[in-house]
Amino acid sequence: MLKERIQKALNEQIQAEFYSGYLYLAMSAWSQARNYEGFAHWMRMQAQEELQHAMKFFDYVHATGGQALVRAIPQPDTEWADPVAMFQAALDHERHMTQNINNLAGLAIKENDFATNITLQWFISEQVEEEAAVEAILGKLAMMGGNGPGLFMLDRELAARPAPTPPAAA
Ligand SMILES: [Fe+2]
Ligand SMILES: [Fe+2]
Repeated sequence: MLKERIQKALNEQIQAEFYSGYLYLAMSAWSQARNYEGFAHWMRMQAQEELQHAMKFFDYVHATGGQALVRAIPQPDTEWADPVAMFQAALDHERHMTQNINNLAGLAIKENDFATNITLQWFISEQVEEEAAVEAILGKLAMMGGNGPGLFMLDRELAARPAPTPPAAA
């Protein structure tokens, strides 16, 4: 059985994961409208992955006797100056989400909630991967320094991102 404080925090994280999905969907739309088809695809796959994160928490709340909340999702930004600004916003957001997950893990430890702590371990590793993936893209963008052919090649590279496989159930 989930403690009330933990359930509340998990429900806030479900909303935050849905917001992440919404933000990446907005980034996908921005890219698509400017013919960055690879970036649009990459962001769309990222949005799918965030919905899977939301559902992993959603299922975990029910597996532990709680009830997941379906809260309103805030409006994300929809415009960026250029692809660099967009991927930088994605990295800033992932760093913020890492902080969220770390705070949740800290709360679970404080409340002696070992099951929630184990579930959060997966998310802690996932955040390391997500930050690294966006940092790698930003690194390549910095390397080409606004170079058109480089941007074209990176866009093509990101078009190859496979669909995310759902994480194992909680
Ligand atoms: Fe996530
Ligand atoms: Fe993420």
